[in-house]
Amino acid sequence: MSNVRYAQTAEDVGFEYALTQIRFMAGYGAENQHESVSFSQALLHNTKKLNVIAALLPGPWNPVVAAKQVASIDHYTNGRISVNVVSGWFKAEFTSIGQWWLEHAERYRRSREFIECLKGIWTNDKFTYKGDFYQFHDYPLSPKPLNLTGRPHPLIFQGGNSTDARDNGATASDYYFMNGNTLEGFQEQITDVKERAKKVGREGQVRFAVNGFCIVKETESQAIQLLGEIQGRADQDAVHAFKDAVTQAGASTGNKKGMWADSRFEDLVQYNDGFKTKLIGTKEQVADRILLLKSLGIDIILLAFLHYEDDIENFGSQVLPLVRKLEKEGRGKNAEDEIRRTGDVYKSRKSTPS
Ligand SMILES: Cc1cc2nc3c(=O)[nH]c(=O)nc-3n(C[C@H](O)[C@H](O)[C@H](O)COP(=O)(O)O)c2cc1C
Repeated sequence: MSNVRYAQTAEDVGFEYALTQIRFMAGYGAENQHESVSFSQALLHNTKKLNVIAALLPGPWNPVVAAKQVASIDHYTNGRISVNVVSGWFKAEFTSIGQWWLEHAERYRRSREFIECLKGIWTNDKFTYKGDFYQFHDYPLSPKPLNLTGRPHPLIFQGGNSTDARDNGATASDYYFMNGNTLEGFQEQITDVKERAKKVGREGQVRFAVNGFCIVKETESQAIQLLGEIQGRADQDAVHAFKDAVTQAGASTGNKKGMWADSRFEDLVQYNDGFKTKLIGTKEQVADRILLLKSLGIDIILLAFLHYEDDIENFGSQVLPLVRKLEKEGRGKNAEDEIRRTGDVYKSRKSTPS
């Protein structure tokens, strides 16, 4: 029930999206997670405006089940469901539930087919597909999603940092989801994914979302001190176990570009490198950095907090109005200007709160 309360507070204070995760098994302190689609439904059932992004993992999910589930949810929530197609990075999770463990590029090839099937099932009267992983023969999904928002199908998010993830983002997804990163890291990924999208005729069609951990305090030093406490008091065994597990993700790719490939212990205390996004400081600093991210082309920021109960509300009452006010004054459009104002904080690890 606490998550339902957080979702209700979030939509009351102006959040537009919430993300749920899928984890069938962890072994690094993240075992107690609910299944993502049913958990998303619980949030949707208890909110009115929030769009909930449900994680789907090809392998355990077949695209026809996923397409059918999400189309139904789309109907009874008036189009408030989106999906995040995750590719899996944790070998023991797959083998313990009897799923083949495909190597990195093959996992992403399967995810690409999975996304193509979702879109095809949702938008074709009869869907035919001959892939290596999935086949369909004149499949007529009914009812189709309502598409109340004017989009052709529920939004499809897809995350990762590797070349495979970027290609899937560029060729098939509506949103490319990023972990926390440096300014250069964000710029490099966004430019690269846009170029890849252009090459396949999808220029301007891929949007960007990022994960960040947010701490807002009266002074920057108080915020940095709290970050130090969070990192210092982390469950060492759990973080080391997570570090070991993620070697099957980022570090396993040929060019070492994958997620977590260069994450340090302190970064991994937050699963998706959220501290690196540096939404940590005074309300003015956090608002400035949000506008910087916006100017880079990021239009959804996924936020995590230490004390959800109070922090979501405080973010909504202190930071969001400031962001909206600055947006009205024309901020958040010119990346050079935003980088000049605040970009330095992202540049080197030395200027990082740590
Ligand atoms: C915001 C975000 C949310 C994610 N949620 C999940 C999840 O719920 N379950 C999961 O197994 N992987 C999740 N992933 C992991 C990705 O699907 C992918 O396995 C990971 O980013 C490794 O990518 P890479 O090796 O291509 O860089 C998520 C990634 C991002 C960026």
